[in-house]
Amino acid sequence: MHNNPLPRLDEDSEVRQRLLKHCRLKAGDIWIDPVSGHRVGCIDATDSHAVASLMDGCQATLAIHDPPYNLIAFETRSVEEYIAWCRKWVLTSLRHLTEDCSLYVWLGADQKNHYQPLPDFMIMMRDFPIHARSFITVRNQRGYGTQRNWMAVRQELLYYVRGKPMFNIGAEYTDIPKALKGYYKEVGGKVTENLQRGKSDTIRAGNVWLDIQQVFYRLQENVSGCYAQKPLKSIRRIIDASSRKSDIIVDFFAHSGTTLLAAEMAERRCFTTDIDPVFCEIAIRRLEHFRANGQTGWQNGHAFEQDKIALAAAENSVEQTIFPIQAMLI
Ligand SMILES: C[S@@+](CC[C@H](N)C(=O)[O-])C[C@H]1O[C@@H](n2cnc3c(N)ncnc32)[C@H](O)[C@@H]1O
Repeated sequence: MHNNPLPRLDEDSEVRQRLLKHCRLKAGDIWIDPVSGHRVGCIDATDSHAVASLMDGCQATLAIHDPPYNLIAFETRSVEEYIAWCRKWVLTSLRHLTEDCSLYVWLGADQKNHYQPLPDFMIMMRDFPIHARSFITVRNQRGYGTQRNWMAVRQELLYYVRGKPMFNIGAEYTDIPKALKGYYKEVGGKVTENLQRGKSDTIRAGNVWLDIQQVFYRLQENVSGCYAQKPLKSIRRIIDASSRKSDIIVDFFAHSGTTLLAAEMAERRCFTTDIDPVFCEIAIRRLEHFRANGQTGWQNGHAFEQDKIALAAAENSVEQTIFPIQAMLI
């Protein structure tokens, strides 16, 4: 397997600095995709004026946001400061969503610190004219903390709506076989159990998703250097359930560009931002790489290989990318 990963870019400022000169966007710039009309802005999500220029009068039907979680991988702020910061980008997001819209937010919960910021975020969301619809749990394959606690394997995803947006999960069954027996019922004088009665051998997605592999260096979709990449399958599921072809989707925290790529695959348009020019560049290159090669990432290679950047610090990176457990905590 190709073995040329980038180190985690939040931890290696030297490599990050070297990548900067290969980035086409600087703060405030917006890239408009000439092929499908996606937009990528090097924008602070809380800067409402900059976001308004990105949107340029367009409205989205779906928002999928995956902010930093205020946990270990970032410089942490007080929970109050963090929530005040979230309030700003949620407000900005709602301004650019249609009256009937869906809003999904990925968020972490620090079990060593009263599960913050998840409950504080949920309470803050009550101040907005939106309704909570579901609290989805994505079950990671691997976790941490198995000796002294229940293994931590969960990622939290909140689903809110305003008005009556579309929702289409009806036809979507996962690849997970039905396993639990025991729900007996008498039908027409015959006692059957649930496995016999069901229309499908597999289960529906529900609000616990068990069928999504975390991203790690052996998967094609891996984007090394990124430390918080969401699996394409999870974003695709959201897009398919809550938007239609040609709709606009916003994502204020692009990072590896998962929403951008999933939107391209699903024939939607994605307007996305990241405050960091390096992640904006990675997101754009990921889209271009997919169009040129049909690949969803670089597995254990990286987005800047063509630039032949000397990655002195990259020797340490193999260990870091073997399985990015940290990423689950971001
Ligand atoms: C958790 S990652 C998003 C991961 C993404 N969903 C993916 O699948 O790759 C968070 C991203 O938010 C960006 N970010 C942090 N603060 C920001 C801000 N104020 N405005 C826009 N982006 C920000 C970071 O640079 C980082 O790339």
